[in-house]
Amino acid sequence: MGRVSVLYSTDEIAERVQALAREIAAALPSDVLMVIVLKGAFVFAADLIRALNQVGVHPRVTFVSLSSYGLATESSGQVTMRGEMPEHVSGRRLLLVDDILDTGRTLAHAKKLLLDRGAREVRVCVLLDKPARREVPFEPDFVGFSVGDRFVVGYGIDYAEEFRDLPYLGALAEATPQSAQSDRRRRGRGR
Ligand code: PRP
Repeated sequence: MGRVSVLYSTDEIAERVQALAREIAAALPSDVLMVIVLKGAFVFAADLIRALNQVGVHPRVTFVSLSSYGLATESSGQVTMRGEMPEHVSGRRLLLVDDILDTGRTLAHAKKLLLDRGAREVRVCVLLDKPARREVPFEPDFVGFSVGDRFVVGYGIDYAEEFRDLPYLGALAEATPQSAQSDRRRRGRGR
């Protein structure tokens, strides 16, 4: 297990989540459908939905589980959906919520799937954006924190399924960010 240093404290995250909720409230209707990407976004989404409640937004909630496998699949940028596509997206205004925007493949794919299913609008909210890592063009609408190429864990985000329970966002000190990230994905652990 690598050493974790605090990147954003619990208080800093709470403050940023409240600000995000205000931004979202100004841009989307009260009955917006939140589409939460599993697994990493579950802690962020749980705090975000309660912050939205405080500013008068009362979202409906659904989940998607997306996965990419192996080197060949990585380089081809193919992302597949595990399980069912969320129902009742046709004509709806959606807020797609994820923990990390990295290469952009996962969210680009998810957004396209939802629009293909007839969603009227898909706005995207990410806790962490890593713009330096982008491999497909993708612009999020709401960003918690923009970070460099660090390997971030905690607050729902794992390294090999560890650290999701940390109440803060931390940087994994011993991991070389890009190699660690690639290794993690090569193991086909899923996303
Ligand atoms: C992470 C994150 C995003 C995706 C972003 O998932 O939750 O869904 O990777 O990467 P991309 O922009 O390069 O597509 P992860 O593999 O950590 O799975 P998990 O959320 O189930 O832990």
